[in-house]
Amino acid sequence: MTTTTPTAVASRAVGTAHTRVEGLAKVTGAARYAGEVPHPDLAHGWLVLATVARGRVRTVEEAPVLGMPGVLAVLHHGNAPRLEAGYMGVFGPPDPVLQLFQHDRVPYVGWPVALVVAETPEQAREAAEALTVRYDAEPHDVAFFAGHPGMYTPEGAEESKGDLEAELASSAVVVDAEYTTPEEHHSPMEPHAATARWDGGRLEVVDSNQGSRFVADELAKLFTLDPESVRVRSEHVGGGFGSKGTRPHQVSAAMAATVLHRPVRVVLTRRQMFSLVGYRSPTLQRVRLGADHDGRLRAVDHVSECQTSTVHEFVERAADFGHPLYDANAHHTASRVVRLDVPTPTWMRAPGEAPGSFALESALDELAEKCGIDPIELRVRNEPSVGPMTGLPFSSRNLLACFEEGARRFGWADRDPRPGVRPEGRWLIGTGTAASAFPTLSAPSTAAVTAEADGTFTVRITAADIGTGARTALTQIAADALETTPGRIRMRIADSDFGAAIMAGGSMGTRSWAWAITVAARALRERLVPGVALPPEGITERSDTSAAVGALTEKERHAFGAQFAEVAVDVGTGEVRVRRMLGIFAAGRIVNPLTARGQFVGGMTWGLSMALHEEATRDQASGGHVGADLAGYHFAAHADVPAIEADWVDDPDPDDPVGIKGIGEIGVVGAAAAVANAVWHATGVRHRNLPIRPDRVL
Ligand code: MOS
Repeated sequence: MTTTTPTAVASRAVGTAHTRVEGLAKVTGAARYAGEVPHPDLAHGWLVLATVARGRVRTVEEAPVLGMPGVLAVLHHGNAPRLEAGYMGVFGPPDPVLQLFQHDRVPYVGWPVALVVAETPEQAREAAEALTVRYDAEPHDVAFFAGHPGMYTPEGAEESKGDLEAELASSAVVVDAEYTTPEEHHSPMEPHAATARWDGGRLEVVDSNQGSRFVADELAKLFTLDPESVRVRSEHVGGGFGSKGTRPHQVSAAMAATVLHRPVRVVLTRRQMFSLVGYRSPTLQRVRLGADHDGRLRAVDHVSECQTSTVHEFVERAADFGHPLYDANAHHTASRVVRLDVPTPTWMRAPGEAPGSFALESALDELAEKCGIDPIELRVRNEPSVGPMTGLPFSSRNLLACFEEGARRFGWADRDPRPGVRPEGRWLIGTGTAASAFPTLSAPSTAAVTAEADGTFTVRITAADIGTGARTALTQIAADALETTPGRIRMRIADSDFGAAIMAGGSMGTRSWAWAITVAARALRERLVPGVALPPEGITERSDTSAAVGALTEKERHAFGAQFAEVAVDVGTGEVRVRRMLGIFAAGRIVNPLTARGQFVGGMTWGLSMALHEEATRDQASGGHVGADLAGYHFAAHADVPAIEADWVDDPDPDDPVGIKGIGEIGVVGAAAAVANAVWHATGVRHRNLPIRPDRVL
């Protein structure tokens, strides 16, 4: 521990269940979302998206549309203000989709080509749908297939240790299998929306995002503004899952507000979200495992292929998932990518880990079968004492504790390992398990904590609560650090004016924000003298965890988990019903058991959905989606989700002031593999292609 890291505080609120502090506001409708903020004089923008997969915009026939009722403007590449190009984003060069209306090139179906602005959303929509855009179409390629000649390995996306081929050659048992996952979409309940306006020389944006400071900084760069001239707020967010960074809705709203000198709102439709906010690339994965008869691994090889757009490189790093998991003499992982005429994919909950864990954890199950070893015992035999690729010690590692507790609660000991032998009427019953893991990350953040004259406290931090319960967890953390009760804390979040802070992403939000809040709160507490009145403005302490986070020693830091599933497979219809799931996680100190359980169960539900339902279908001829809505894109509904239980083992992070690791993404990791392994156990048939649709089962 560094000198700037506070030691653990006595816990009173942390670890106890709290309903959401904003729950009443949400259920009564008092909580305002980005698409609901009223403004006198508000105008509404509607995006028009390209209908060809490759080519150029020849003409935008705006004249007839400008005569339609209420229409104020049609922005397109021929008349839009110029944006700053070539700046560097936080995560490298930004996705060129943010360079709205800067040129006539169309790189995929769904690329924004115009914004129609009108007095009402209905008028804007009608005019947008009436707008004729003519294109010079060119031949396109949206076909993603194994061994595509354009497939390449990006810099840094391949790692190896030991002599893989030699270890495979000397292995008594080898699994060599290919797995596929389809294109998947995060389609948060609240569509992306932004209301932008100029207020006394400042661009003010009310938005739905995962990190207001990041969006503000990006808008400042795009519009060549001083960062202090942009304010972005995002108080309530109805889901993000990686899709809510800077996107065309904020940029187009800000652009139109600049042109029209009026507040402008842009809301995406569900259908538009399928091309404008990123998605998870399909993957083709080959896993080769080599082991001795007793199941001890000699070689682990995981090669994954994915797609990106022609304009921007985003790689689904599925092959990295196994890095912390299993000991072996040789490891090789590579995540490869091909550029197609499709939208750029992005982070989607557990990017890399979700599809990667499906392949590797299915392959482990296949190895267990081949070796005649119980799948949990196989993992016990391959448990590493240090990071398999790095040799670094683990900050804490409780994977086997998760399996032990999970096996006990699930009733694994009574399991008959033979597949396809448990009929129950027209059903075949089976159970499966899989490991999960997710990196534990911290990022520098700043916070300000004020002791108010009335005895309450105000915390200001540019955190985002995208539905996770982060606001409530931070309230509990602040209460403990200030040695007060949650009821005396006013938690103000999601305002870029509060300063730099990491976004809600990478499962590191709450951990990183809690650190900053804890540092400021403890400094403040030391300044409070009992019995001495505070000045009317209160007293404020600020923190910046850059140095402390930077001083963390190099270690293998991860959360781990064990997933269990029981399925029933209808041999007549091919339907797979999940009967129950159990996830046991070792994911740091759990701040709020109520909302944490929601995060785990939500992730596991997503894994079930990934295993059985989700699949975005692209039409090769048009290059666009078929059924780009929540009717065409199937996902688990309530009736598909029976008993799902999540719990955890004690696993406080030794280097974090509150002991937090991060819980937002690990719930989905391994869940699809557990279901697929259960389907094998039920039927004796391996399903290596997701989703496990009835037609694939039959
Ligand atoms: Mo998450 S995919 O890190 O928003």
